[in-house]
Parts: sequence; C-alpha cells; structure tokens
Amino acid sequence: MKKTLKGTVGFANLPNQVHRRSVKRGFQFVVMVVGESGMGKSTMVNTLFNSALIPEKEEVPPSVESPKTVAIQNISADIQESGVKLRLTVVDTPGFGDFINNEESWKPILMDIESRFDSYLAQETRANRTKFVDSRVHACIYFIAPTGHSLRSIDIEFMKRLHTKVNLIPVIAKSDTLTEDEVATFKVRVLADIAQHNIQIFRPLSDSFDDPETVAENREIHDKIPFAIVGSNRDVTTVDGRTVRGRKYPWGVIEVDNEEHNDFVKLRQMLIRTHMEELKDHTNLVLYENYRTAKLLSLGKIQDNAVFREYNPVLQMEEERRLHEVKMQKMEAEMHAVFQQKVQEKEQKLKQSEEELYARHKEMKVTLEKQRLDLDEKRRRLEVSLRPTTPDRKVKKGFGFK
Ligand code: GTP
Repeated sequence: MKKTLKGTVGFANLPNQVHRRSVKRGFQFVVMVVGESGMGKSTMVNTLFNSALIPEKEEVPPSVESPKTVAIQNISADIQESGVKLRLTVVDTPGFGDFINNEESWKPILMDIESRFDSYLAQETRANRTKFVDSRVHACIYFIAPTGHSLRSIDIEFMKRLHTKVNLIPVIAKSDTLTEDEVATFKVRVLADIAQHNIQIFRPLSDSFDDPETVAENREIHDKIPFAIVGSNRDVTTVDGRTVRGRKYPWGVIEVDNEEHNDFVKLRQMLIRTHMEELKDHTNLVLYENYRTAKLLSLGKIQDNAVFREYNPVLQMEEERRLHEVKMQKMEAEMHAVFQQKVQEKEQKLKQSEEELYARHKEMKVTLEKQRLDLDEKRRRLEVSLRPTTPDRKVKKGFGFK
C-alpha cells in the first residue's frame, strides 16, 4: 500500500547518514594479482593506486632475470583521498606457472582464497565479534601473457578452478607489446575461450534502477573486457612536451592514462570508482555464501551443530536430546545382547541334558534287552528241563531227570 506524506519526515536523509557513517568507518578492499612472473603485476598495483605500494624492481634488460615475487604476500596500506579512508590489501602471488610442473600451480592460490573464507566463517561464529577482520579477496586481476594467440591451458585451468571463489578480472598484460589490431583479435579469442569453458568473469551489469548515464558507462567498461593494460609509475615527456605516466619507446610514448592507448583507465574506473562495492557485495553474497553453504554441508550436521552449539541454546538442547537418545539406544542394544546370550546358554544346557537323557535311555534299553535275552534263555532251559520223558525213549539208568 502506497501512502503519500503530508510533509517532510526526514528519512530522505538516510543515504547521507549511511554516507557519513561509511566515511567515518573507512573502507576495506582486498585485491589479488595473479599471473606469470614478470607480467607487470607489481607495476600495475603501483600504477592503480599511484603509489609505491610494492617496492619497484629495477628495470632490467630482457636478457637479465628480474627479481621475482617468491611467496604469496599481503601488502596492506591505509590510503586516503578527499577525506575517505581506504584500507587496501594487495595479495601479490608468486609467478604463476613458472615452475617445471605447473599442473597444480593454482592450488596455493586457491588455498589462500579459501583460508580467507574459513577465517571469516570462524569469526562469524565467534561469541565476540567486535574485532572482525574481513580479509576475503574481493577481486582477482588475472594477467594474461600478451601472446596474441589464445588462452593457454594453464590460464584456462586457473580460471576454471577459481571462478566460483573469486571475482575474476582478466587483463592482457603489457599490451604495448601488441599492435592495436593484435589486441582486438586477441580479445575476441580470449572471450571465446572463456565462453567455451563456461568461465564466469566479473562483468559490470546494469539493472532497471540505473540511470542512462550509468548504463552507458557500464556498457563502455563491459566492452573493454578483457582490459588490455600498460603499467608504469614513471613520468615521461611526450613529443608535444607533456609530462605523463607512461613508457617511452624510440617510436614514441605509450600513455598509461590515455584511453586511446590502452584500457588502464577503464580497469581503474571499474575497480575503484564505480564497482568496488559491487565486487565486495558479490564476494559476500554469492561467492562466500556458496562456499559457506558447501563447507557447512560437508562438515555434516553433527559438526555443523558443534560450530554453533556453544552459542545457540536450542541447538544445545537438541544436541543433548540426541546424545540421550543415542545413549538409550546403546543401553537397549546391550540389554538385548545380554538377553540373547542367556537364552543361548539355556538352550545349550537343555540340549546337553536332552542328549544325556537320550544316552542314558539308550544304555538302559540295551541293559534291559540283555536282561530280557538272559531271562529268555533261562526260561527256555527251564522248559526243556521240565519237559516229560517220552515212553518210547530209551533212558539209560542213571542218566534221566528226576
Ligand atoms: P613477479 O613479482 O616476479 O611475479 O613479477 P611482476 O609480474 O610483479 O612484474 P613486475 O611488475 O615486477 O614487472 C616486470 C618488468 O616488466 C619490469 O621491468 C617492469 O618495468 C616491466 N613492465 C611492467 N608493466 C609493463 C607494461 O605494461 N609493459 C611493458 N612493456 N613492460 C612492463
């Protein structure tokens, strides 16, 4: 039911309240950079935030190996712009795919992302949640080598393993090494590979609430994906005498902040200016939520209860009742087993005495039979002795019966 207000109440000021509170609290953002060693990850982070967050490595000629990032490292910095504070954490990963066996080089990175989810989950279930630290990765910039061909199997494997855990932002690294046409063709191939392998990457989408300007802005960013970027924190002088951030070549200057030269501006716009909150929301509401559900389901109901039992009296009572039931069932089973054993023993005894009786009966039968035979013999003998002597029989004197 829609009601029209007669006058101003004041809740139109709510966005300002949220704004003031957010500015006071400050913001947190965690960005991860992944890609082969020497792809310009550290340089890009410094270019993005216009500061030397990650110590610059010496510019070295291609023949010399530049120092490599060796282990996953977190670089945190509190940065401030027009009074707005941002706690920025950059997760710099070791050169991905630089090892002899690259089959599982995505593993430590996936483990790192998941351990951040686990740490968040553990904090959520803690009784005291005042010191809550959100270290979840909100965006993962994936550096694609500027080969000009298509995605390598290692890139596909990585993205497939991680796209459900993190907002993937693919970028074509060192795009100044490709011509304009090569960049355009390479982008088409990369997008085709991504679609073919059903890889979800982060795309700025507009909804019905967005004004036409935002819709157009989102479309422009969307059309630049994968961003072909150039990184440099150095100031160089252009032929017309301007000082710009860029890379100087014998044939001219590539300007980092020039949209005609590369997509760095669009990447920065999406990551920092327009979609940082969306990246965080998607991480929280979709990626983390899916991980959390799967994790709790995999732990099973008993452990699931164990996680919350401490804090939830209903679950506590349910758990106690369940334990009681288990105890009763165990007792019943034990009593049944004892009863069965007693019945078996009784049956055994009965069988034994039955066999004894039968044996005794058999023995008596044999004895009686023997006695009967003896008596028969005696009777027969007696009958013979009592039989009268026949007259025609000649009985010698002294040999007859009395
Ligand atoms: P690891 O820390 O070893 O993983 O390297 P990384 O990916 O962080 O590369 P890094 O930023 O250290 O850059 C390596 C080299 O590439 C440096 O000499 C940079 O000056 C150079 N470089 C960085 N970005 C670009 C770029 O956009 N184009 C060109 N041509 N070179 C770049």
